[in-house]
Amino acid sequence: METMKAVRFHTYGGPEVLVYEDAPKPEPAAGEVLVKVHATSVNPVDCKGRAGHLRILSEYPLPFISGSDVSGVVESTGAGVTKWKSGDEVYGRADLWCPGAYAEYITMREGEIAYKPKKLDHIHSAAIPLAGLTAWQALFDSADLKPGQKVLIQAAAGGVGHLAIQLAKLKELYVAGTASGRNQEFLKQLGCDQPINYETTRFEDVVHDFDAVIESIGGEVRDRSWKVLKKGGILVALIGPQPSQDDAKQYGVRATIIWVQPKPDQLAEIANLADAGRVRPEIAAVFPLREAAKAQQMSETEHVRGKIVLQVV
Ligand SMILES: NC(=O)c1ccc[n+]([C@@H]2O[C@H](COP(=O)([O-])OP(=O)(O)OC[C@H]3O[C@@H](n4cnc5c(N)ncnc54)[C@H](OP(=O)(O)O)[C@@H]3O)[C@@H](O)[C@H]2O)c1
Repeated sequence: METMKAVRFHTYGGPEVLVYEDAPKPEPAAGEVLVKVHATSVNPVDCKGRAGHLRILSEYPLPFISGSDVSGVVESTGAGVTKWKSGDEVYGRADLWCPGAYAEYITMREGEIAYKPKKLDHIHSAAIPLAGLTAWQALFDSADLKPGQKVLIQAAAGGVGHLAIQLAKLKELYVAGTASGRNQEFLKQLGCDQPINYETTRFEDVVHDFDAVIESIGGEVRDRSWKVLKKGGILVALIGPQPSQDDAKQYGVRATIIWVQPKPDQLAEIANLADAGRVRPEIAAVFPLREAAKAQQMSETEHVRGKIVLQVV
C-alpha cells in the first residue's frame, strides 16, 4: 500500500489530538480526481469537527484527515472523468465528511474543483474556496442582493467576512461590517463603507433599514441583528441553531441558514475576479502541514484576520 504524509485525529479532542503521520494514499474512484495538495487552509469547521462538535450530525470514520480547502495539481483521474487531466492546476472545497486536505493527496469529485486563479500562488488560492463560496452563496444565492442594496456583514475581518466585503462591493452593494478596533482600517481598505467597532459601538444603533445581515456569530449578536433589517429584509445565518422563524415574523423579515455547497461555476468566477486583481485573500499566517495543531490553535482564538494557510509542498 502506498502511503503519504497526512495530519489525522484518532480521537476527538483539542488541537493536540492532531498527528502528522503516514496514512494510506487515496486512489480516485470513478468520477473522482486525485489532487496533489500544495496548500490547504484552516476553517473553523475543521476545529469543530476535530473537537467532536459535529457528532450531532454524523460521526467521522477515525482516524480522520481534516481539511476542506485545496489548491493543488491533478495527479490522476478515475474512470469517466473527462474534464480534468494530469497536470491541471485546480482549487476547490472538499466534502466535509470525506477524508480531507491536511495531506499530500486528496481525492475529490470532478464537480468540486475549478481551475485555480492563475495569478495567485497555491497559498493564496487555498485561502479562497470554502470561505469564498460561503460569502458568494450568502450574498447572492440566499439574500439575492442587487446593486444599491445594503448588507451588514458580521465578523467582517474573518475568512468569510473579508471576502464577502470584496464580493459585495463588486456588486455595488453598500456594506457595513463589524470588527474590533484593530481591524477598522483593514475593513476600510477592503472597501467597507461603514466599518463598525464592536468594542465601542452597538451595530444596531448605527445601522437601520438594511436589506440583509450575514450573521456568523450567533447568541446575542443574532438577537440584535434582527433590528437592523428593513421589512422584508433577510437574515442569513452561517452557524446554527436555525434562526427563529417566530423572531423573523415578529420583525417582519425573512431568515435562513446556509451550508456551503460545492459550486464550480462560482469558484471559476471568483478565480477570474482574483486574476483581475479584484478579489484578494488576506493571509494571516502560513504554517507547514506538520504544524496543523498550532494553526488550529490560532484559528480557535476567533480573532484571525483573513485566513490561515497550511503549506504542504
Ligand atoms: N454555514 C456554512 O456553510 C459556513 C461556512 C463558512 C463558515 N461558517 C461559520 O461562520 C463562522 C465564521 O467563519 P470564518 O471562517 O469567517 O471565521 P474566522 O475567520 O475564524 O472569523 C474570525 C473573525 O471573527 C471576528 N470576530 C470575533 N468576534 C467578533 C464579534 N463579536 N463581532 C464581530 N466580529 C468578531 C474577528 O474579528 P476581530 O479580531 O476584529 O474580533 C475575526 O476576524 C464560523 O463559525 C464558521 O464555522 C459557516
